[in-house]
Amino acid sequence: MSNAFKDDVLAGKVVFIAGASSGINLGIARHFAKAGARLALVSRDPERIAAAAASINDAGGSAIGMAADVRDYAAVEAALARTRNELGPIDIVISGAAGNFVAPALGMSANGFKTVVDIDLIGTFNVFRACFAFLNAPGASLIAITAPQAVNAMMFQAHVCAAKAGINMLVKCLAMEWGPAGVRVNAISPGPIAGTEGMARLAPTPEMEARFKARLALRDYGDKDDIANTALFLSTDNARYITGTIVDCDGGSKLGDASADALHPPKAPGKAA
Ligand code: HXC
Ligand code: NAP
Repeated sequence: MSNAFKDDVLAGKVVFIAGASSGINLGIARHFAKAGARLALVSRDPERIAAAAASINDAGGSAIGMAADVRDYAAVEAALARTRNELGPIDIVISGAAGNFVAPALGMSANGFKTVVDIDLIGTFNVFRACFAFLNAPGASLIAITAPQAVNAMMFQAHVCAAKAGINMLVKCLAMEWGPAGVRVNAISPGPIAGTEGMARLAPTPEMEARFKARLALRDYGDKDDIANTALFLSTDNARYITGTIVDCDGGSKLGDASADALHPPKAPGKAA
C-alpha cells in the first residue's frame, strides 16, 4: 500500500462512485475510505456492489452499495438521491463505469458498438447530469475515468476510442458550464493498470503483457494506487484551480511507442539510416 493516507484528508466528504464493484474504481473507493470519506458505490450487479461496500465497511470505512445501470438515467438519479438523503450533499463524484471487448469494427454489430458508447459516454453524461442537483457546491469535484484510447487510435478498440474521446470533450464542456457554480470537472486517463479486468481483456497472455510494457516509456504497468492518488489530489483543495483537464497517469502511454526498435533497429553511431 502506498503512503497516500497521512491523515483524514477527506474526513466528512461524501463521495459517489459509479462502476465501483471492482478494479480501478474500487481501488479509488478503498483509498478514499481510508482518507475518511463516506462512500456511495454503484454498479449493475447487486451482489458485487454489496460485496465491495462490505469489504470497505469490514476494513473500518463507511460505504453503502447500490445496484444501478449507468445507462438508466432514472436509476442513476435514484441512487444519487438516496446518497444525498442518507449521507448528505455530495462533494465528489467519480464516473468510471465502462465496458470493453477486443474486436475489429467489422466483427462488431451496431449494438456492440452502441453498448460500449452507452456505458462509457452516455453513462458518464447521465452520472454527471443527474448529480448536479445533489452536489455540495461550490467546491464539488467531478472526475471521469477516460483512457489513452481517447487520443491514440488503437486496433480493435473503435468503440472504446470513440466513447472515451467523447468523455474527454464532455468533461471540458461541463467544466466551462459548471465552473461558475464552483463545480470542477476533470478526467483521469490511466495507462495500463496491473490486476484489472481492462488489461486482462487487452493483454491476456504474459507475452502480450511484455509487449505492452516494452512500448511504454516507464516500461511497466501502473497500479490501482497510482490512479487513486491522482483522484485524491483532484478531489482536494490542492487542485482548487484545476478544471477541464485530462490528467494522464499512464507511464507515458500517450507519447506513443517508446520501444527501442519502434521505427529503426539500433544502428552503429555515425551510420546513416
Ligand atoms: C464482438 C461483442 C463481444 C465481443 C459482446 N459483444 N462481446 N461483440 N465481440 N467480444 C456484443 C454482443 O454480441 C451484443 O451485440 C452487444 O455487444 C452487447 O452485449 P451484451 O453482452 O448484451 O452487453 P452487456 O451485458 O451490457 O455487457 C457489456 C459488455 C460486457 C461491455 C459487452 O463485456 C461487460 O459487461 N463489460 C464490463 C466489464 C469490462 O468490460 N471491464 C473492462 C473495462 S476496461 P448483439 O448485436 O449480439 O446484440 C475499459 C478500457 C480500458 O473500458 C482501457 C485500457 C488501456
Ligand atoms: P472493471 O473492474 O471491469 O470496472 C468496471 C466497473 O464498471 C465494474 O465495477 C462494473 O461492475 C461496472 N459497470 C460496467 N457496466 C456498468 C453499467 N452499465 N452500469 C454501472 N456499472 C457498470 O474494469 P477496470 O479495468 O478496473 O476499469 C475501470 C475504469 O478504468 C474504466 O472506466 C476503464 O475504461 C478505465 N481504464 C482502465 C484501464 C486499465 O488498465 N484497466 C486503463 C485505462 C482506463 P458491474 O459488472 O457490477 O456492473
